[in-house]
Amino acid sequence: MPANALTMTLAFLTVLAISAPASAQPAAVKLAQPDFNAPGLTVLKALQNRKSDRAFADRDLDLRHLSEVLWAAGGINRQEMPGGGVGRTAPSGRNVQAIEIFAVTRDGVYRYDPPAHELKLVTGGDHRAQAGDQDYVAAAPLNLIYVADLNKFTSGGEADKKLAAAIDLGHISENVYLYCASAGLNVVARTSIKPGNLASALKLEAGRLPMMGQTIGYKQ
Ligand SMILES: Cc1cc2nc3c(=O)[nH]c(=O)nc-3n(C[C@H](O)[C@H](O)[C@H](O)COP(=O)(O)O)c2cc1C
Repeated sequence: MPANALTMTLAFLTVLAISAPASAQPAAVKLAQPDFNAPGLTVLKALQNRKSDRAFADRDLDLRHLSEVLWAAGGINRQEMPGGGVGRTAPSGRNVQAIEIFAVTRDGVYRYDPPAHELKLVTGGDHRAQAGDQDYVAAAPLNLIYVADLNKFTSGGEADKKLAAAIDLGHISENVYLYCASAGLNVVARTSIKPGNLASALKLEAGRLPMMGQTIGYKQ
């Protein structure tokens, strides 16, 4: 390599090393596809086991559980719908799909991208303590925060939009409850999410309304 090119390469690498902190999170976490053939509970057995728990082991979810929780919540399960668009694991009124799912983990705040089945980094760092004021929230490995994008509704007043979003969200939350019952994870739905505390970490644009959270982790 000529001396000039070598000097430029070294300078470029030095700039990279200075601008990227050693602990920087990747911009995206590629999630694993669900294992549809894994042994598991029947839906009836999962319904029998479904319940809320508020104690969690201080252990991060492995990639399989993290991936499957997010897919159960908002994953794409059909590429074509009669009215256009894709289909998801949870039904949605007029298939508006207004609920965005954020994942608050030890590493950062991420937004779930269903088509890519990826978590996109929004803000690095541990913001779990801001995800709610109950003791278990900061210690649990995963807090999902459900945010309604009211811009997605093209008709109806504010109250109609919030109601439609809340009904969709109920289905998403129950999907997560049933997946957790099947996978042996602890879970609790929460309206006590303190949106003001998380506002800057979520970087929400206008028309986005945090509505509920769901805390998930291994049993103690
Ligand atoms: C919309 C909704 C909001 C909830 N909010 C909270 C909450 O903020 N904190 C909490 O500890 N549990 C919360 N829960 C869990 C309920 O307390 C729980 O579902 C209820 O006590 C019934 O218990 P089970 O889920 O074990 O059947 C919420 C549940 C729902 C459906």
